[in-house]
Amino acid sequence: MSANIATMAYIAATILFILSLGGLSNPETSRRGNLYGIVGMTIAVLATALGPRVTAAGIPWIVGSLVVGGSVGLYAARKVQMTQMPELVAIMHSLVGLAACLVGYASYVDTSIAFAGAEKTIHEVEIYIGILIGAVTFSGSVIAFGKLSGKIGGKPLLLPARHWLNLAGLLMVIWFGAKFLQAHDIQAGMMPLMVMTVIALLFGIHMVMAIGGADMPVVVSMLNSYSGWAAAATGFMLSNDLLIVTGALVGSSGAILSYIMCRAMNRNFISVIAGGFGTGGGAAPAAAGEQPAGEVTAISAAETAELLRDSKSVIIVPGYGMAVAQAQHTVYEITKLLREKGVNVRFGIHPVAGRMPGHMNVLLAEAKVPYDIVFEMDELNDDFPDTDVSMVIGANDIVNPAAEDDPTSPIAGMPVLQVWKAKTSIVMKRSMASGYAGVDNPLFYKENNRMLFGDAKKMLDEVLVALKS
Ligand code: TAP
Repeated sequence: MSANIATMAYIAATILFILSLGGLSNPETSRRGNLYGIVGMTIAVLATALGPRVTAAGIPWIVGSLVVGGSVGLYAARKVQMTQMPELVAIMHSLVGLAACLVGYASYVDTSIAFAGAEKTIHEVEIYIGILIGAVTFSGSVIAFGKLSGKIGGKPLLLPARHWLNLAGLLMVIWFGAKFLQAHDIQAGMMPLMVMTVIALLFGIHMVMAIGGADMPVVVSMLNSYSGWAAAATGFMLSNDLLIVTGALVGSSGAILSYIMCRAMNRNFISVIAGGFGTGGGAAPAAAGEQPAGEVTAISAAETAELLRDSKSVIIVPGYGMAVAQAQHTVYEITKLLREKGVNVRFGIHPVAGRMPGHMNVLLAEAKVPYDIVFEMDELNDDFPDTDVSMVIGANDIVNPAAEDDPTSPIAGMPVLQVWKAKTSIVMKRSMASGYAGVDNPLFYKENNRMLFGDAKKMLDEVLVALKS
């Protein structure tokens, strides 16, 4: 393949990647977005493998790597559970970081292209920064994988004077960077490069260890952004324009996603990075003194069915529990039945419902819930006062009124779905346990709230049977 055709293929792949990102921003167009991404990546791989810079001797290596990498990817994608998605993403990011490090070392010891003067300095700066970002991404992602999969505890590790440690690390990286650029040959440059790599690896570990369970998803999206910058750095080292553009797209979209998630959780990005926030990541009980007074009113599946049947408008708010129970198909069966009876049923999706961005949208799409009845929080939060029943399925933090009413609450200021403003709210969960943030929920004790205790799938099956009878 000539250099011109390869460049044209790269431009086509770049356009497809941009279209892919655009498509993925909306559930209705996300399948198309995915398809654009697949086609773009296929073109990119083919144009690179068949491009002018690959010799015939390299082809078997490329094919072998494609078969091994492709098989591992296919196996992982088929086997992974929806709830394990964040940890799969984390471990994938670590590979991008590792690749950036390896490419960095390879380009440093590669003497086939002779650089001189300013070009040599620029090339070495690219290598140094590429390995730096790659090493932080690699070790940070491995720790994130360990935390998300429960292999490492979710509690933040807060070393004394940790900010000073980080600052000292940064200064050493700059110092060794200067030494690296001053080195006259590869042997002399290797020592500062390797010291910097070790510091960067330790920094990645330290950074993610200091972050608590509740902030981990933000960290995954931040590492996603880092992996993009690592890929862009690799692109600079290899003088590959497509890798630079793709890396920059991933880097900037990851940064925007991290920002959106922080805003939806009312967390400040800097304080997430500075670390130290977050519980063990589970249903930690609220402190005894913080229990809101009052009693909860339980409701049966048959009574729930009756309430639903008698209502004109219903808003369903799904959360993490719906994903755990895999209740989305039954939810849609109930929705269909109610719609046939003339009930206006809509879904309200909080930006951080579940455990990853778009978690609920993916599940509802899988159950074939029509997109036009699925709304973002902001689109229907004002409609709750005109709603007969709001049905909360395995959600907790995202419907917690304390976020609005209690300035001392750990989730104070986080925007929430105001389900308590409906005539009746029904919360479906197994117990009184708290959600991800580990805080109690005053919604349960409100006068117009009913608790339907049990596994979401089991209870919804019962509601469906009662509705049909
Ligand atoms: P949570 O607040 O975690 O509440 C989920 C509830 O589901 C739990 O209280 C649990 O109560 C219930 N549950 C678990 N298994 C169930 C089952 N089989 N059947 C019925 N209920 C079940 O979830 P949420 O409301 O979706 O909020 C998400 C939380 O995750 C927020 O705090 C958010 O900040 C955090 N988070 C999310 C993201 C993203 S990107 N989505 C990112 C960062 C953080 P029981 O144990 O009593 O059943």
